[in-house]
Amino acid sequence: MIGNRRIVLGVSGGIAAYKAAELCSRLVQAGAIVDVILTAGALRFIQPATFNALTHRPVATDPWQPWTESAAGHIALAHNAAAIVIAPATAHTLARLALGLADDALGLVCLASQAPLVLAPAMEANMWRHPATQAHVATLIARGARVVGPEQGRLASGLSGEGRLASPEAIVDALQSALVHNASLAGRIIVVTAGGTHEPIDPVRFIGNRSSGRMGFAVAAAAARRGAAVRLVAGPTQLATPAGVERVDVETAREMLAATQTAVADADALVMAAAVADFRPEVELTRKIKKRPGDEELDLRFIRNPDILATIDRPGLIKIGFAAETDDLIENAERKLRDKHLAMIVANDAVATIGSDASQATLIRAGAAPVALPPLPKDVVAERIIDQLAALLPPRDAAP
Ligand code: CTP
Repeated sequence: MIGNRRIVLGVSGGIAAYKAAELCSRLVQAGAIVDVILTAGALRFIQPATFNALTHRPVATDPWQPWTESAAGHIALAHNAAAIVIAPATAHTLARLALGLADDALGLVCLASQAPLVLAPAMEANMWRHPATQAHVATLIARGARVVGPEQGRLASGLSGEGRLASPEAIVDALQSALVHNASLAGRIIVVTAGGTHEPIDPVRFIGNRSSGRMGFAVAAAAARRGAAVRLVAGPTQLATPAGVERVDVETAREMLAATQTAVADADALVMAAAVADFRPEVELTRKIKKRPGDEELDLRFIRNPDILATIDRPGLIKIGFAAETDDLIENAERKLRDKHLAMIVANDAVATIGSDASQATLIRAGAAPVALPPLPKDVVAERIIDQLAALLPPRDAAP
């Protein structure tokens, strides 16, 4: 898994920086192309020459190194990395990563990269246990970083405690599993729908809902991060297209049905996160409705929209639906799971989730006990959904 992959090894300024040379050597021996970035603190402990001799590649220390025709500096490192591993990750570096600071080469590369991030913290025991450090680590884990160590043992202070850098074997293991996990949807085509629909009343008015599209966009981003080819069918939203995702914009339920039907033709899975209007005005007026003196009421007649998830039912297509309910959440979600022939349904409290950044979801798979997740940011819920989807897909050689 590590062979021939481009790995960025970030080294920050702690005494364990000397151990990063051993890790670097192992990665190179495993066949990886290793680009090392040293922070200013690391340069106090270890020299670029050590890593240059091990990797036969330039070592990045300065974000102001000029770009060349062949190398766009830190941006190329960030975009080409299969994974980033930071060992040792000091308390200061963890804080900077959690805050998204970008005033050195390592911070820039981490911000500009979508590669999996493996952190091997090492520091004095009280620094590790400090609530500030723990909060930063929790933030980074919530964003998908893997943390390996620190281990218990003798520290540079002479005292014993939790703070030693994890062993090179443990760090390489964490990196391997981040790479495997990250490629779990390679070669798959995943269609995701997101956002609400707008059903026109007249040329200037529509009926819509409060869906922000955040859940569907987060699912699309998570699937793309795992190597899938992602087609995102999006209702009206202000959100930016996630990197590597092909997007089709639609407005109405009927447009969403048509775009989704086209997109699923050769797809492995459909994740239907859109909040589709069940009804639309019976007629779309070509002229603006004008109020006249004495008009105290307006009657609009609605007719049913197609149910996209129920309509699209191709053998071999794994379908995941969402249920946003105000009452009887699990019963209603289980009924939709059966009626629409879904492999899984994500059940949410409608009031708490729609328009919010967070969600408290229950994942219900056909024939399995529901998994209730705690309240989590939608990005994290998306990762859990994609974990389940990866497990639901038939093995590669069995796929049609
Ligand atoms: N859905 C769909 N097309 C529709 C309505 C819903 O594809 N016209 C999908 C949603 O994207 C979601 C799932 O079906 O994945 C459940 O949607 P929801 O609106 O909660 O359920 P409904 O089937 O519309 O049932 P109810 O009216 O009872 O809420």
